[in-house]
Amino acid sequence: MIDEKPLLSVLHGRKTAVPPLWLMRQAGRYLPEYREIRAKASSFLEFCYSPASAAEATLQPIRRFGFDAAILFSDILVIPDALGQRVSFESGEGPRLEPLETPDDFSRLSEALDLGRLAPVFETIDRVKGALPSPTTFIGFCGAPWTVASYMIAGRGTSDQAPARLFAYRYPEAFASLIDKLAEASISYLLGQIDAGVEVVQIFDSWAGVLPAHEFENWVFSPIRKIVSRIKAERPGTPVIAFVRGAGTHLTRLVENLGADAYGLDTAADPVWAVRETAGRAALQGNLDPLALLAGGAALDRETAAILRAFEGHPHIFNLGHGILPQTPIAHVERLIALVRQSGG
Ligand code: CP3
Repeated sequence: MIDEKPLLSVLHGRKTAVPPLWLMRQAGRYLPEYREIRAKASSFLEFCYSPASAAEATLQPIRRFGFDAAILFSDILVIPDALGQRVSFESGEGPRLEPLETPDDFSRLSEALDLGRLAPVFETIDRVKGALPSPTTFIGFCGAPWTVASYMIAGRGTSDQAPARLFAYRYPEAFASLIDKLAEASISYLLGQIDAGVEVVQIFDSWAGVLPAHEFENWVFSPIRKIVSRIKAERPGTPVIAFVRGAGTHLTRLVENLGADAYGLDTAADPVWAVRETAGRAALQGNLDPLALLAGGAALDRETAAILRAFEGHPHIFNLGHGILPQTPIAHVERLIALVRQSGG
């Protein structure tokens, strides 16, 4: 089973001649077939909770490009939604939630995660797993507690997560209780995804990079370590990928102590440094600049070659340093796939 699936092989520490390849946000608006089915849904969340649509969106990039992994089509914000903080997406404007301004507002959240509300996600997984080609690995995911909390506090996306950072300084105990609640919810959610049929889980901490070191320890490192250790204890054998965007020099400590099988590097991380720091301890995933993919041409060729060279001889999963941008031309994705797949000689 592992030998048949290149991505699982790398997650078990093997090197492959050609790195397995998938792209964060590979299902989405850059694909015409996605825009077509998305246009029929009344809202983004309703689309995420429709197993037929979400399964189709998961499979579209696999059919078109034959990536080595499929990532479940859903969103990190289904967790606040299933904790009673309703989420909506304004077209072109991103997520909207009723903000949590003081600890008193936490009374609006439910005690425990409503797994019933997430049942359509588990049904999506069940549909996808039977439809994937045998070499394709199926990845489930959740947002890390800090990133999810930052949207719950602000009620929307911001450029620096100032509302959540201020909240954490003003009300550290209440904030710690929210982080704890989200860690527990994430554990139940990921266990549910694994039981429904995903083979790997990825934890997205997209906003880790805005925190000072001490806050990083409390809100990023500790809760992710807790999630990883519970997944490892309760479903041994399921690999975990941690994508801690903006980890910078914290990467070394993450690789030594977090217990994940692979670490995603963001666009700004230097792959040569990362390989040297972590050699032999974990696989690395990344980290082509999504803008180089959008630009195409000589920049795409050069940046792709540099990444392949930097990770040569190290367990590597080729990916972007952040999600693919909606304006990315399909032809550039095809070019990237050809460059990566030819790299083994
Ligand atoms: O293809 C995949 O990777 C699977 C699906 C997926 C989505 N979101 C679909 C989506 C995944 C893994 C995510 C993760 C996610 N969602 C993150 C972490 C990764 C990252 O990009 O940093 C975050 C922070 C979110 C929250 C979120 N969802 C925002 C801020 C937005 C609006 C901005 C945007 O890109 O539009 C979303 C909406 C969203 N999630 C879309 C998709 C395809 C676009 C909405 C649409 O199609 O109408």
